[in-house]
Formats: sequence, structure tokens, C-alpha cells
Amino acid sequence: MTVVANMVEARCCFKLLYAIVVALLLHMNSPCIGCSERDRQALLALKQGLVGDDGDRLLSWGREAQNKNCCQWEGVYCSSSQTGHVVKLDLEDQSLQGKISPELVKLQHLEYLSLRFNNLSRSQIPDFIGSLSNLRHLDLSSANFEVKFQTNLETLHTCNISISALKDILLYASPVNSIHAKNLNWLPNLSGLKHLDLSYTNLSDVVGWLEAVNMLPKLRKLILDGCSLPPPIIFSVSIMNSSNSLVHVDLSRNNLNSSIFQWLSGTHTNLVYLDLSINYFRGSSIPAAFGNMSSLEYLIIYGSELEGGFPNSFAKLCRLRHLELYRNSLSGQLTNFVEILSECAQNTLEYLHISDNKDIVGSLPDLTNFLSLKHLFLGGNNLSGRIPKSIGQMSKLETIDFGRNSLEGF
Ligand SMILES: *[C@@H]1O[C@H](CO)[C@@H](O)[C@H](O)[C@H]1NC(C)=O
Ligand SMILES: *[C@@H]1O[C@H](CO)[C@@H](O)[C@H](O)[C@H]1NC(C)=O
Ligand SMILES: *[C@@H]1O[C@H](CO)[C@@H](O)[C@H](O)[C@H]1NC(C)=O
Ligand SMILES: *[C@@H]1O[C@H](CO)[C@@H](O)[C@H](O)[C@H]1NC(C)=O
Ligand SMILES: *[C@@H]1O[C@H](CO)[C@@H](O)[C@H](O)[C@H]1NC(C)=O
Ligand SMILES: *[C@@H]1O[C@H](CO)[C@@H](O)[C@H](O)[C@H]1NC(C)=O
Ligand SMILES: *[C@@H]1O[C@H](CO)[C@@H](O)[C@H](O)[C@H]1NC(C)=O
Ligand SMILES: *[C@@H]1O[C@H](CO)[C@@H](O)[C@H](O)[C@H]1NC(C)=O
Repeated sequence: MTVVANMVEARCCFKLLYAIVVALLLHMNSPCIGCSERDRQALLALKQGLVGDDGDRLLSWGREAQNKNCCQWEGVYCSSSQTGHVVKLDLEDQSLQGKISPELVKLQHLEYLSLRFNNLSRSQIPDFIGSLSNLRHLDLSSANFEVKFQTNLETLHTCNISISALKDILLYASPVNSIHAKNLNWLPNLSGLKHLDLSYTNLSDVVGWLEAVNMLPKLRKLILDGCSLPPPIIFSVSIMNSSNSLVHVDLSRNNLNSSIFQWLSGTHTNLVYLDLSINYFRGSSIPAAFGNMSSLEYLIIYGSELEGGFPNSFAKLCRLRHLELYRNSLSGQLTNFVEILSECAQNTLEYLHISDNKDIVGSLPDLTNFLSLKHLFLGGNNLSGRIPKSIGQMSKLETIDFGRNSLEGF
């Protein structure tokens, strides 16, 4: 019995071996599999200019015969095994130093280029990046480039290229504020842009930044965090090109004043995420018009000297999940705030942070109708009375802060 079984096994093994050999032969004979020679040479030149320390993705990039197919190199992605054109190059976080070889432009099919989190200090963003006419996504964030903003990023569109193909520019600066721009006049020409992140570049001199941004009819995500942005001049920005397309706006850590509210009080009905934290809104209350942002899920404006109460219009925010308004000077009865929010957001609200406003007063109302509430921060206000027992019935609640008030226990 055992002998028969062994013979069957042996025959199976032989068949398997045969199949593998045939597959290998077929593979070796096929001329079309692998990357184009031109692209391979371009990548090797790129490698030569770069030095990697740890996490070296470039280790797999080699000249050896068995390593010819550059489509299999780490971080390299090709359109298909037929054409073998490199379409995506992902060299994120590889501790790379050195220079970007101009041979890179030979990757004419490149659509996606990310060099974020590397240390390419003392090299400039190479002008020839502007010649990559199929580029859709360019991420040079925290790559320590020394950017001559004007002459450099302008090359993205001064060349005879259809730069309107470019959809994402991510370039938040590292070290912080090491990049300084005089204007954003080049921006409106990137008319296909959907995602712009220039965080931590210093845009303090760019008075017309909003006009420039506003010219981008497809912009969905705008992130200008920590850019020293000056208050925009609003009268020149009437009807907004981008106001319907914008979904995500982060203008935190800037020098904005309440004039920005006028822009946002336009027709931003698709806005889901809005962060205006750490700006200067002294003397202003939360604009009632924000209640018209019917898609809003995240509203984050902490540390900005906002005054007054919740606008009644917030009763219309039916998708609100996350509300952060701590460290302002808001005032009013907590019960009133809660009533407004319970009109429509009682099933959606997960996160409420209104700590450290000092003048939010009154007792803590029953919150059990907020069925999704997980995080509740009410510390550092002027609340009094007893904490209602019903708090104990809120099964989703994970975090609470009632401290620094005059509340009494259960
Ligand atoms: C980046 O590279 C430069 C030399 O080119 C070096 O002086 C510096 O320490 C490096 N920075 C980091 C964060 O590795
Ligand atoms: C502009 O187009 C011409 C002709 O197509 C080409 O020779 C030249 O290299 C292009 N310039 C850039 C910067 O791409
Ligand atoms: C934008 O493109 C137009 C035509 O395509 C050109 O005339 C203009 O100079 C460009 N703007 C900037 C700021 O380069
Ligand atoms: C930005 O640049 C201006 C000079 O134009 C300078 O006064 C300011 O301190 C810079 N901001 C930061 C945060 O570095
Ligand atoms: C909208 O964008 C177009 C093209 O980018 C521009 O010509 C126009 O002035 C913009 N309109 C406003 C109101 O900004
Ligand atoms: C905002 O700042 C601008 C420029 O400094 C100023 O002209 C405007 O009066 C300010 N608006 C408010 C509401 O403070
Ligand atoms: C909100 O939208 C309604 C309807 O479009 C409008 O009548 C109202 O004035 C808006 N509210 C504010 C504060 O802008
Ligand atoms: C707290 O509110 C009470 C009135 O409810 C008021 O007398 C007191 O001054 C407030 N305390 C602070 C620190 O604002």
C-alpha cells in the first residue's frame, strides 16, 4: 500500500516540476515582459545621484541580468507588463540624500511621483519636473528641498506642457517655514488641481492667496496649515470658482481674522471638513452662515478668541460628527448649546470639545439622546450643579472631562 502511495506522490511531483520548468522557459522567451530599457536607464541614473541610509528601497534596483525588470523594483510601478512604462515612483521615507538626476524626465509616462520624507537638502526642486507632462500627483513634502519658490514652481507650468493634468501638489515645508513665497501667481494655471497642500511654507507676503486659490475650479482639498497667511482681501473675491468643489479646508495656524468668514459664508455646501484653529477672531462669534453648510461633519476652531454663543442655525447641521471649539471665549448656557445640537446632530455627534471657554455656564443637561457621543470635553468652564446620573447610561461614551468646573458628583 505504502509503495503505491509513494509512486503516486512521485508522479505528482514530477508533473509539478515539469510545469514549473515550462513556465520558466516561456517567461525567458517572452520579449515583452519587463520594463522599457529607456525607463530602466533613467531609474539607474536616478539611483546613482541618490544616497540612501536605512530602509533602502533602492537596494532592489540593480544592473544584474536577473534584475532587469525594473517594474519589479521596489517603489516602481509600471502601466502594464506589455509596455513596461513606469507610471508611478514612490520613494517616500527612504532617508535619501543627494541629487535628483535630470534623467528623470525620460520617464515620460510618469503620473505619480513621491519623494516625501527624504533629505534632499541643498538640492532645488529640479526644474525639469515641469516637463513630466503626464504627472498627476507630485509629493515633495518634507523632502528638505531648498525651494526657490518663484523660479522653481513656476516651471511647473511655464513649459509647454499640459500642466492642467496635475491634480495633487503636496509640498508642506520642512524645516518649518524654510520655504518662502512672494506670490502664488502660478497657481491659477494649474487648473486641474484637486489637492493643494503647502503647509508650513511661509506665505505671509502673499496678499492675494485667496484669489489665487479661488481660481481653481476643481479644488477639493486645500491645506494651508501654519503658513502665516494674512487676512484675505475679500471684496475682490466675490463669486467663488472653488466654493462648490471644496470638500476639505484647513487654514489653521495663520494670521487670519474674521474676514475669512465672508468667503466661507458663500456657497460652501459641499464642505465636509473645516479647520480654522489658531487664528485671530477676537470680537467675532461663530458665523450663523456656517449652519448652511449642510454637508459639514468636522468643524474645528480652537484657540481663536471666538466670542458669543452657538448660532441657532447649527440646528440645521445634520451630519455634524466632530465639533472642537475649545480655548475660545464662548459664552452662554450649556443647555442652550445642547438644545441646538440635539435638533439634528443628536444621532451623528461623536466628539464635542468645548473646554476652556470660561463663560459657558449653567448645569449639565441630560445627554442620553446623543446616541453616538464618544468623547465629551467640558472642562474649564463655569458649570455648576449635579452631574446627571443618566451619564452612566451612555454606553458609547469613552472619554469625559468635566474638570475645573463647580460640578458636584453623581
Ligand atoms: C540631511 O542631510 C544633510 C547633509 O546633506 C545633513 O547635514 C543633515 O543632518 C541631514 N538631516 C537629517 C534630518 O538627516
Ligand atoms: C516644448 O516643446 C518642444 C516641442 O515639442 C520641445 O522640443 C521642448 O523640449 C519642450 N519644452 C519643454 C520645457 O518641455
Ligand atoms: C498662465 O497661462 C497663460 C496661457 O496659458 C499664460 O499667458 C500666463 O502667462 C500664465 N500665467 C502665469 C502666471 O504664468
Ligand atoms: C515669514 O516671513 C516673514 C517675512 O516675510 C517673517 O517676518 C515671519 O517671521 C515669517 N514667519 C515665520 C513663521 O517664520
Ligand atoms: C474663475 O476661474 C477662471 C479660470 O481659471 C477665471 O478666469 C475667473 O476669473 C475665475 N472667477 C473668479 C470669480 O474668481
Ligand atoms: C482683517 O484684517 C484686514 C487686514 O489687516 C483689515 O483690513 C480688516 O479690517 C480686518 N477685519 C477684521 C474684521 O478685523
Ligand atoms: C442660509 O441659507 C438660506 C437659504 O439659502 C438663506 O436664506 C440664509 O440667508 C442663509 N443664512 C445665512 C446666515 O447666510
Ligand atoms: C461663574 O458663574 C457665576 C454665575 O453663575 C458667576 O457669579 C461667577 O463669577 C462665574 N465665575 C467665573 C470664574 O467666571
